[in-house]
Amino acid sequence: PDRTLVIVKPDGVARGLTGEVLRRVEAKGYRVVRLEMRRATPDELARHYAEHEGKPFYQPLVDFMLSGPVVLAVVEGHGVVPGFRSLAGATDPTAAAPGTIRGDLGRDWGLKVQQNIVHGSDSAESAARETAIWFGADA
Ligand code: GTP
Ligand code: MG
Repeated sequence: PDRTLVIVKPDGVARGLTGEVLRRVEAKGYRVVRLEMRRATPDELARHYAEHEGKPFYQPLVDFMLSGPVVLAVVEGHGVVPGFRSLAGATDPTAAAPGTIRGDLGRDWGLKVQQNIVHGSDSAESAARETAIWFGADA
């Protein structure tokens, strides 16, 4: 089956939404095959967000991701990469459709970074790359 990397970001963990995110993933029929809560390191984030380096929101994004523990999950199922993106909804929680994680549970908090509860890999290649960053090559 396909695999994706889901991260419950520090806002989601702090708001007690980890269970709700995993509930939606499992209710959809996907399988959580690895799960870990811990603090991200600057090195992991530099690698994970390399495509955004140099953008105005890059440093605020990294600082936000370092602000508290994250929950890392490898999720499996046919079509799970676009499937989880669909569950998550649009990047901007104000625009995200109701019914999605970001649309139902997220909002604009007036901060300089989009706090949008979850990350989901955007392609199979990204999923493989990101899973290796967070869990090592053996994952
Ligand atoms: P992820 O699943 O977290 O990767 O979200 P995404 O794929 O929908 O968005 P993208 O990869 O483009 O951006 C990564 C993260 O950077 C987003 O989830 C936001 O937290 C933040 N971000 C992206 N674009 C903007 C922006 O234009 N302004 C701000 N402030 N933050 C942004
Ligand atoms: Mg992305």
